[in-house]
Amino acid sequence: MSKHSLSKFGFAFGLLVPAILLLPHPVACDEDRDNLLQGINSYRTSLNLLPLAKNDRAGCLADGIADQLEDHPCVATTTANAIPGTGPQLSNYPNLLSKCGIHINNTRDGVILPVCVHNRVPTLVLTNYTRTGYAGYLNDSRFTGAGIGVEDNWIVVILATSTQQGSFASGSSLGCELSTGLGFICLAILGLILYSH
Ligand SMILES: *[C@@H]1O[C@H](CO)[C@@H](O)[C@H](O)[C@H]1NC(C)=O
Ligand SMILES: *[C@@H]1O[C@H](CO)[C@@H](O)[C@H](O)[C@H]1NC(C)=O
Ligand SMILES: *[C@@H]1O[C@H](CO)[C@@H](O)[C@H](O)[C@H]1NC(C)=O
Repeated sequence: MSKHSLSKFGFAFGLLVPAILLLPHPVACDEDRDNLLQGINSYRTSLNLLPLAKNDRAGCLADGIADQLEDHPCVATTTANAIPGTGPQLSNYPNLLSKCGIHINNTRDGVILPVCVHNRVPTLVLTNYTRTGYAGYLNDSRFTGAGIGVEDNWIVVILATSTQQGSFASGSSLGCELSTGLGFICLAILGLILYSH
């Protein structure tokens, strides 16, 4: 191998490793989540609203929040439990956001709806969304997407909007989060790409 092709190989390899690290983490395909989304969407259809599309980043965040709630006492579903998209009550919210590659500005119009149902009995979970104060959020055409997280007795539904402020998208179009170490790798790659041209 010539020195030149070796450095090309090194360059390609150097790109590959961070590229793999940057791939979004696959959201576990869980039957509970799919069934709940289906139930919520049937409810939406019955109200003449469009079904909610799956939002993977919101789902990642919902999983992180459900994980946090696991140790909390089970509370009844009331609108008071709804968390605004900015989630000030959660101490590690910024970490959860950066882990899921979400910019906080893109969470403002969203809403986080936690529910606790022992053993996550599917019918009870669904009615805790459709027959409590949460129903008002489901019956709202502003919301167009949803991410669902589950952990133990907790279920978290995050509703996303079609606007930027409720999209749960990353801040930059490249998906590079400058708040994390990965942001530095993104910058390094950008630099390399620009330099090689
Ligand atoms: C996020 O929102 C704040 C306050 O509205 C604004 O100052 C800031 O520039 C925004 N950041 C981005 C990346 O849009
Ligand atoms: C919500 O779930 C709880 C169980 O955690 C159940 O006792 C209650 O009846 C449910 N409420 C609705 C409106 O489905
Ligand atoms: C849903 O919202 C519409 C419009 O705001 C309202 O007219 C309707 O009564 C609501 N339905 C339910 C079941 O909450």
